[in-house]
Amino acid sequence: MALPQAAISECVGESSPATSLKSKWRVPLLDPTRTNALLEEELAETFKRVIRSGRYILGPEVEALEAAVSTWLGTRECIGMSSGTDALLATLMALDVGPGDEIVTSPLTFVSTAEAVARLGATPVFADVCPRCHCLDPNSVSALFGARTRAVIAVHLFGQLGHIDELLRLADDRNVPLVEDACQAFGSNLGGRNAGTLGTAGCFSFFPSKPLGGFGDAGLVCTNDRLLAERLRSLRSHGRVGMHHFAQLGGNFRIDALQAALLGVLLPHVQNWIVARRELARTYTESLSGSPGITTPACCNLTESAWGAYSIRVPQFRDELAAYLRSSGIETAIYYPRTLAEQPLFADRSAAPAVLGHAVKTAREIISLPIFPGLTPIEQNYVVSRIRQFCQKMA
Ligand SMILES: Cc1ncc(COP(=O)(O)O)c(C=O)c1O
Repeated sequence: MALPQAAISECVGESSPATSLKSKWRVPLLDPTRTNALLEEELAETFKRVIRSGRYILGPEVEALEAAVSTWLGTRECIGMSSGTDALLATLMALDVGPGDEIVTSPLTFVSTAEAVARLGATPVFADVCPRCHCLDPNSVSALFGARTRAVIAVHLFGQLGHIDELLRLADDRNVPLVEDACQAFGSNLGGRNAGTLGTAGCFSFFPSKPLGGFGDAGLVCTNDRLLAERLRSLRSHGRVGMHHFAQLGGNFRIDALQAALLGVLLPHVQNWIVARRELARTYTESLSGSPGITTPACCNLTESAWGAYSIRVPQFRDELAAYLRSSGIETAIYYPRTLAEQPLFADRSAAPAVLGHAVKTAREIISLPIFPGLTPIEQNYVVSRIRQFCQKMA
């Protein structure tokens, strides 16, 4: 039986903010229609162009987006994918990850990160996160390296690049690839080095809530490794190496030409949107620092974040704050209420030999506030004043 859209949104959780637009919220968690409305004419023209072209699978629109994103990121190769999830899956396939392999990653992430590992019969090994920036803790990662370790997946949670340089060094020392799950971090950078371009491959999602959010599901892998790129191109088309020649087990992981063309319209604007997100984040931090019971986001390096999410920690009354904001018409989200190590899905599909104390604690305390280009100062002031009011009451 097909579920009604509201129920589907409820179930998929992370998708719900993007599908609950134009709703009851006085301040929504996000609203891509505000920025997309400004580009409506160009988007409509692009839509028509693709419809009239008759090229709906791969072809020039996909190639144009891949070239534009390569230039934007400063990477040699980009391969458009059907989603961030498939970008991760195809990357691990291209790296020949399989049964018996262990992939060290974060337990504080969307399910896809570890799902891609488990889909290939490999084992996600969950390391703990840093209590400040919530990204992988290099000490915990290092302690989990073993003979079966085949790769590390660093998750740039909320747009933060965490301890990426230490992780890159660790992976390099052990001669294993480091894959960046940069699904929340398109446009984040560390000293000018863009998220996704630092490791062996970077995986992005263009899910509508992301810093570069499209009009449905889409993703992309970037890499400087031409052979890996070639493999990824083959894998996304069923392992095809010639018209009727299939050399390896792949899948249908292709980005739609229509989606690629529409993303191509958004791409020139994404830098401005990221600047707007940074400004909103700065205002939140300035306004909320010092509110009793709240910790604003901390950065462990000089990441210039794209602020895929703005998440505060509220150790004593997170759920009460969420309820209060909800009753005030403010939409929030919890990324993520449980670590992946606590999910039934991974009960017998993963290993978590480390104590995941920080990850579990973060999951119990974190809450994400509305942040998107187009959020007005009046709306943000309202969010801030409600939070302050609540904290004063609880203090
Ligand atoms: C950290 C992380 N990894 C992977 C994904 C999966 O991306 P997609 O929804 O495009 O499949 C997401 C998206 O929600 C994400 O936030």
